Amino acid sequence: MDRIFSGVQPTGNLHLGNYLGAIRNFVRLQEGNECIYCVVDLHAITMWQDPDELRQSTREVTAAFIASGIDPKNSIIFNQSQNPHHAELAWIFNCVARLGWLNRMTQFKDKAGKNRENASVGLYAYPNLMAADILAYKATHVPVGEDQKQHLELCRDIAQKFNNDFGTEVFPITEPLILGPATRVMSLRDGSAKMSKSDPSDNSRLNLTDDADAIAQKIRRARTDPDALPSEPAGLEGRPEAANLVGIYAALSDKSIEDVLAEMGGKMFSEFKPVLADVAGVKAGPDWRGNAAARRRQCLYRQRAGRWRRAGPRTVRPGDA
Ligand code: TYM
Repeated sequence: MDRIFSGVQPTGNLHLGNYLGAIRNFVRLQEGNECIYCVVDLHAITMWQDPDELRQSTREVTAAFIASGIDPKNSIIFNQSQNPHHAELAWIFNCVARLGWLNRMTQFKDKAGKNRENASVGLYAYPNLMAADILAYKATHVPVGEDQKQHLELCRDIAQKFNNDFGTEVFPITEPLILGPATRVMSLRDGSAKMSKSDPSDNSRLNLTDDADAIAQKIRRARTDPDALPSEPAGLEGRPEAANLVGIYAALSDKSIEDVLAEMGGKMFSEFKPVLADVAGVKAGPDWRGNAAARRRQCLYRQRAGRWRRAGPRTVRPGDA
């Protein structure tokens, strides 16, 4: 049995990229594995957060986990700040990781932008905290979208250096799990930019809380090119918007890109988009209204959230996992 760990930041609306790149795989990996899924609120505060909104978003991400099919009876779901060991181990890793390693992290460069001097130290050291999240539980596998690959390589480097420095095998060399045909879902408005919570245009993403009408409208407006879909994957080269929509359709309908193109090759976007919108409306869950199982899970979540509030926070320690 493998030990799975992954985390999602409670910042803004979850979108289809979070779902297809990560959360859907969290659900599938529950079968036969020990799973720990974390709402990483300490990561969120590397950028300014309104405290009330952060609390609310932490609950919403938890609700999305449960509504997507993570079963709290079998998997551990918690928010990072409930367990002080994450921050403690991160400090130790601050003393293991090298400045040169962190200087290479592209996500820091993207997030800090031109105003690097004004970025928080936390944003810079963020990958060390991420390694601590994973290694505090000695997780062997971490499902993530492609954008987290570099951070997971750093986690492996930290584990390796710690083990070498202290002559021990205490930390596993964790394997990333980057699964499915939509590991990097792109913006609906710009096929060269990642679908992201922070994009100012809401039309750039499908939020997990969007209803079927909003999803259909956003897909109708999605940027495309004037050509018909190709019949083979090679025909998607140099067509990022087409490749993105085909990847989304393949992931949502559980088909390979090859099979989708064999079925859709030759169709114009005016024909393909309504088919995509239908699948996305039903499956780009959780659609609380359209999906009875998700609705039941959300009710369960609300009842539990009430009980948790009354009982106080639950602390999860590495030994519990
Ligand atoms: P976060 O909160 O940005 O994203 C959560 C998960 O969603 C994936 N993802 C995407 N996948 C495909 N296409 C996209 N457009 C897209 N956007 C986001 C991310 O890859 C991620 O898997 N640093 C992490 C959170 C974290 C973590 C961890 C993850 C903290 N500690 C330990 C794994 C293990 C982050 O900011 O994810």
